[in-house]
Amino acid sequence: MNEHQEEISEARLHFFERQEIALEHIPASGYILDIGGGGEGIIGQLEGERVIAIDTSERELAEAPAGPLKIIMDATNLHFLDGAFEVVTAFFTLMYIPEAEHAQVFTEMFRVLAPGGRCLLWDVACPPRTDLEQDILVLPLTVKLPDAEIATGYGARWPEAGRGIEHYVMLAEAAGFEVAARSMQGRVITLELRKPQQETE
Ligand SMILES: C[S@@+](CC[C@H](N)C(=O)[O-])C[C@H]1O[C@@H](n2cnc3c(N)ncnc32)[C@H](O)[C@@H]1O
Repeated sequence: MNEHQEEISEARLHFFERQEIALEHIPASGYILDIGGGGEGIIGQLEGERVIAIDTSERELAEAPAGPLKIIMDATNLHFLDGAFEVVTAFFTLMYIPEAEHAQVFTEMFRVLAPGGRCLLWDVACPPRTDLEQDILVLPLTVKLPDAEIATGYGARWPEAGRGIEHYVMLAEAAGFEVAARSMQGRVITLELRKPQQETE
């Protein structure tokens, strides 16, 4: 869902409690590919010109702060060669992509990573919906960067059955990733995925 393209009544919104996360600089040589890097463009704010931000929405890319190279592109069909990046990030982006497309996004993130490369993922964990009228979740979020603090909020369709960290772990492993680190803090899912040095048959 894109909240700008649809009239949304207040009654449909469910606000979760504000979450807070702190981000450290991301060590990597070469470019960092940020999936869905429009909007606040948090990874772009963190790493500036080291970032290539792709997003299907020209407007969201235009709104994001300057720094990254911004390219209109769909995460399900990345126009990069195999093994092009050491790091791929998706900061609260998968919540905006229909679940039926998630497996393809993981396949593409895996493909464009070099062997040994890492995929860093942040997203929201949500319980099953209880109020059928409230089909949109809003996650107020405070992001602490090394030299800035950003108060924002991300709103997207609330999956009826809910969605937790296992959904992402399952898709990541099916795509070939190893889970290097995983954490749940409040409603925030953080995953560090690694593409093995040698792909298994
Ligand atoms: C609102 S942003 C979320 C947070 C953003 N990463 C940030 O740092 O602020 C999510 C973005 O994902 C984009 N998006 C949705 N589906 C996409 C897809 N299939 N491929 C690439 N971007 C997509 C949306 O256009 C939106 O700009």
